Amino acid sequence: MSVFAALQKRKTTREISATPLPLQLLSNLLWAAYGVNRKIGPFGIAGRTAASASNSQEIDLYVALSEGVYVYDAVNNLLVPTMAGDFRVDALTPGQRGIDAKAPVQLIYVVDVHRLTHTAGFQEPGLQDPEVQKSYYFVDTGLIAGNVYLFAAAQGLAAWFHNCDKTGLAQQLGLRAEQRVLFAQSIGYPEKE
Ligand SMILES: Cc1cc2nc3c(=O)[nH]c(=O)nc-3n(C[C@H](O)[C@H](O)[C@H](O)COP(=O)(O)O)c2cc1C
Repeated sequence: MSVFAALQKRKTTREISATPLPLQLLSNLLWAAYGVNRKIGPFGIAGRTAASASNSQEIDLYVALSEGVYVYDAVNNLLVPTMAGDFRVDALTPGQRGIDAKAPVQLIYVVDVHRLTHTAGFQEPGLQDPEVQKSYYFVDTGLIAGNVYLFAAAQGLAAWFHNCDKTGLAQQLGLRAEQRVLFAQSIGYPEKE
C-alpha cells in the first residue's frame, strides 16, 4: 500500500479483538514504529524510523503482551523480557477498562530523561531544562505513535493511542527515577462487527 493510501485509512480504532498478533507481524510493527533504519546515523549512532531530539533516542517501547512485558531492543531487533505477568490492563486508565480492554499488544511509551541530559548528539542548553525536555519527549513519542498508526492502517490493524495509569505502571515496571511513563497505544486486529 502506498503511504498515500495508508494515510487515507489512518484512524483510531478502539474495538480490538483479543486475537494475538503473529510474532513476525509484531516484529514488523516495532521496526516500523522505531526500528533502526541506518546503522550509522546522526552523531555516529544508529538512525531510527522516528526522529528524536539530538538523536537522543530517549523513548523506550515497553511491549505488554499476555505473558509479560518486554522492552524493544531496536539495535538487536529483540524483545528483552522485563516483567512476567499480564500488565496490559494497567496500560489503560480505569475508565477505559471495559469491553475495549482486550487488545493483544499494549505499547507503553517510557522516557529515560538521562538520555536527553547525556546525549551523544548535539549538546544544546534546552536538553538540561525540564520544560524543554518535556516538549522533546512528547514530540518524540508522537512521531513513533504516528508510525504505529500508519503501519496499522497499511496492515489492516486497529490502533488506539491513549492515556494510561502512569504512576501505577511506573511502580509495576520498576522504573528508575529518570524514567517516566508517558502514554500507551493498543494494537491488534479490529473487532469484527
Ligand atoms: C495525545 C493524545 C492523547 C489521547 N488520549 C486518549 C485517551 O486517553 N483515550 C482515548 O480514548 N483516546 C485518546 N486519544 C485518541 C484521540 O481521541 C483520537 O486520536 C482523536 O479522537 C482523533 O481520532 P482519529 O485518531 O481516529 O483521527 C488520544 C490521542 C492523542 C493524540
